[in-house]
Amino acid sequence: MSRAGAARSVTVRVPAKVNVQLAVGAARPDGFHDLANVFLAVSLYDEVTVTPADELTVTCAGPDADQVPLDRTNLVARAAETLAARSGLPAPAVHIHIAKNIPVAGGMAGGSADGAGALVACDALWGLDTPAAELLDMCAELGSDVPFSLVGGAALGTGRGEILTPVEAGAFHWVFAVADGGLSTPAVFREFDRLAQGREIPAPEASPALLAALASGDPEALAATLVNDLQPAALSLRPGLAETLAAGTDAGALAALVSGSGPTTAFLVRDAASAAKVAAALEASGLCRATRTATSPAPGATLL
Ligand code: C5P
Repeated sequence: MSRAGAARSVTVRVPAKVNVQLAVGAARPDGFHDLANVFLAVSLYDEVTVTPADELTVTCAGPDADQVPLDRTNLVARAAETLAARSGLPAPAVHIHIAKNIPVAGGMAGGSADGAGALVACDALWGLDTPAAELLDMCAELGSDVPFSLVGGAALGTGRGEILTPVEAGAFHWVFAVADGGLSTPAVFREFDRLAQGREIPAPEASPALLAALASGDPEALAATLVNDLQPAALSLRPGLAETLAAGTDAGALAALVSGSGPTTAFLVRDAASAAKVAAALEASGLCRATRTATSPAPGATLL
């Protein structure tokens, strides 16, 4: 068998993301929306481990594991199948385990991160050495956020978010408040469309002021420029999130916003001490299920 090292396991660590700018255009004929999407990878990670097995199986452990589908709809299974098919290999026979720490259906691209992780892990396990451009192509096929999960760092995503240009980013501190339950990304985009009815939607463009603030590493400057066009739609579906956002800023966060399509909320803070204080206040408020603190930028998919 050419898949050498039958008893070997490969583990890949993958980061969550927050969008510091999420500019959304009008719905396209294919149902997607053009975006100007400034991604930042943050130091909250899942780990994806692949091990040779008799057939393709998926398991998951972690606080939200019961919300993760273990069938072929999981992006890790689709990643393994895509890589095998594109490489001319038979159907993949691997056990894929996800050690999950990124909130599920939370707007932090946890599922996308796992997909990118499975792709990199299977590539290493099967000794394929697939060129980076081809891996990125497969990531884009799996989902709009998956290419960024592979590369990490900081990047502007255009198109539906999958066309990436790296951008410069200083170090920033974040607190994330994990809400009860998830929000469906398609439902949030549909709500965006509903709220936009009758309005002219401008073509999305990256904000020069935001990119300059990001590069400067100045949290006050970044706080003044954060914007998420999906936030009104997420708040319309989950009005209670407004209280969570206010609780974070009341506790000293420089800025608060919904992370991606939500319902996780993100708080930009000055430093690690402020992160601990804001996280404690959010936990005490009873307005969220849990909090996480993290820094950005973080590396993309990394073989351990
Ligand atoms: O690309 P992905 O499968 O992650 O997207 C999930 C859903 O989010 C899409 O089916 C679409 O409804 C919505 N979406 C969108 N425009 C984007 C990205 C996602 O409308 N740029």
